[in-house]
Amino acid sequence: MRVISTIAEVRAARMAMPMLGLVPTMGFLHPGHLSLVKRAKSECGLVAASIFVNPTQFGPNEDFGRYPRARERDLALLEAEDCDLVFTPDVTEIYPAGFDARIDIGGVTEGLEGAVRPGHFTGVATVVAKLFNIFQPTRAYFGQKDAQQCAVIRKLVRDLDMPLEVVVCETVREVDGLAMSSRNAYLSPAERAKATILIRALRAAAASGDRDAEALRRLMRDTIHTEPLAQLDYVSVADPDTLEELNHLGEGGALLSLAVRVSGTRLIDNLIIP
Ligand code: PAF
Repeated sequence: MRVISTIAEVRAARMAMPMLGLVPTMGFLHPGHLSLVKRAKSECGLVAASIFVNPTQFGPNEDFGRYPRARERDLALLEAEDCDLVFTPDVTEIYPAGFDARIDIGGVTEGLEGAVRPGHFTGVATVVAKLFNIFQPTRAYFGQKDAQQCAVIRKLVRDLDMPLEVVVCETVREVDGLAMSSRNAYLSPAERAKATILIRALRAAAASGDRDAEALRRLMRDTIHTEPLAQLDYVSVADPDTLEELNHLGEGGALLSLAVRVSGTRLIDNLIIP
């Protein structure tokens, strides 16, 4: 496994790789990330991961400074997955002095996380577009847990005719159902136990069989409100591609999603109803 930190090194290494799967990450890897690396390896033969805590996708009052970092542990985990290349650039390699570009792909960035975290998806789309241009991967792998991010990246690729395939992989969960996330590290043991309220709310709605979107939202809200440590940011029942809120579940199914603060830690999760 080669660990490199400049764009020039990536370009040189890429020349010798006919097919490449890319797994963009912000590090502090968990089994969810590693499942993406495994899938990329099995489908593409060669896999690269990037580790870059992207400052432009964090708001001024968000957790950029304290976002968990564990470089050596991450590299050992990637090595164990037989990852071929790891890109760990400095901020100035990605955003040199004078950098000014912004990619705003509109519609799908506006609701849900985008409404609560202004500018977040512009930061994500811009850095992901840069990573796609740097690596020119055959396929790029993302986790369904960040459902809106997946919709944004699919649209980025479609709208800008980027020549690669976006592969969205199932959310990896702890045994009790909590979606794996680097931010779970912020939870105290007591908060960690309460954090299953997200998946409990989603599963209650999915299991209800109700096709009325407002009834599903109400069921999720009511479930979240049973947990005193949990503070609801939003619940949504939306079209899985456009992310527009639905009134009724039709043929296209629905994306159920929510964001909840468990004490100070903001968690998101989602389920797709077919
Ligand atoms: O999902 C993440 O870790 C990040 O948003 C990504 C896609 C690596 C872009 O910084």
